[in-house]
Amino acid sequence: MSDNHILITGISGLIGGILHQHLSDVYSIKGLDRLSLPDNNVVVADTTNLDSIRPAFEGVHTVVDLAAVPDAHTPRDVILSNNIPSTYNVLEAARLGGVKRVIFASSNHVTGMYENDYPYSAIVAGEYQGLDPALIPKISTDMPIRPDGAYGIGKAFGEAAGRFYYDNYGLSVLCLRIGTLNREGRPLIPRHFATLLTHDDLVRLVCCCIEASINVGFDVFYGVSSNTWRFWDTGNALEAIGFRPEDNAEAWR
Ligand SMILES: NC(=O)c1ccc[n+]([C@@H]2O[C@H](COP(=O)([O-])OP(=O)(O)OC[C@H]3O[C@@H](n4cnc5c(N)ncnc54)[C@H](O)[C@@H]3O)[C@@H](O)[C@H]2O)c1
Repeated sequence: MSDNHILITGISGLIGGILHQHLSDVYSIKGLDRLSLPDNNVVVADTTNLDSIRPAFEGVHTVVDLAAVPDAHTPRDVILSNNIPSTYNVLEAARLGGVKRVIFASSNHVTGMYENDYPYSAIVAGEYQGLDPALIPKISTDMPIRPDGAYGIGKAFGEAAGRFYYDNYGLSVLCLRIGTLNREGRPLIPRHFATLLTHDDLVRLVCCCIEASINVGFDVFYGVSSNTWRFWDTGNALEAIGFRPEDNAEAWR
């Protein structure tokens, strides 16, 4: 096993495709997805079936776990039948396979209910009157979780399960509360001026997680670009893994 062996679950999706394209020069990338695309070479397996995915985890150093239905409005039954078992099985397969670190694609929807409160409610509506972005109190990963639906609850489960796998088995788990990563890589609605994560900043963040010392055992980071109106704190990611986002959604204003 060498440190550069990476397994990406959900590799046939949007984020998986971006990471595959940008990381392949540096890392030995293997992918797993229930969908195979014509242009990628993936193990076709369903992460809800533990036995079927276990072989893919052998000899892997780091897993980037993206497999999930990503829509914030995903109904409860799909979260219960797909997202939660998928996350749990990936952690278990990683443990059984001797993986050292799992980078879990969590979501900003773990704390989405803060957006009902002022000033976040105004910012996501694009109403900035009377607000100074430098004075907006940032939501940090130390603050209580406030999921905004079944999807956010499922991601909160993943963070809790990750914490258990670290505490109980020593598997390093880094959870990324990804903001808005769209195909266009730019803001499409007012909220995105706060929440955008550009493709380049995504790649920077994931690389920092892959390269971080194994002593960074468990942590949770917001994945957001350096947007003027951002209201999530990325300071702990700078401190723990050296992540410094470089893009700003205002470039598209
Ligand atoms: N794109 C965003 O803005 C965003 C924001 C926050 C979190 N996330 C998370 O990041 C991850 C990737 O998101 P994305 O936007 O690339 O979504 P996507 O739908 O484009 O990709 C997800 C991939 O996971 C696969 N998948 C789903 N369930 C599976 C299963 N049971 N077995 C095997 N494969 C399965 C799908 O086939 C798909 O290829 C997801 O976990 C999502 O919840 C995304």
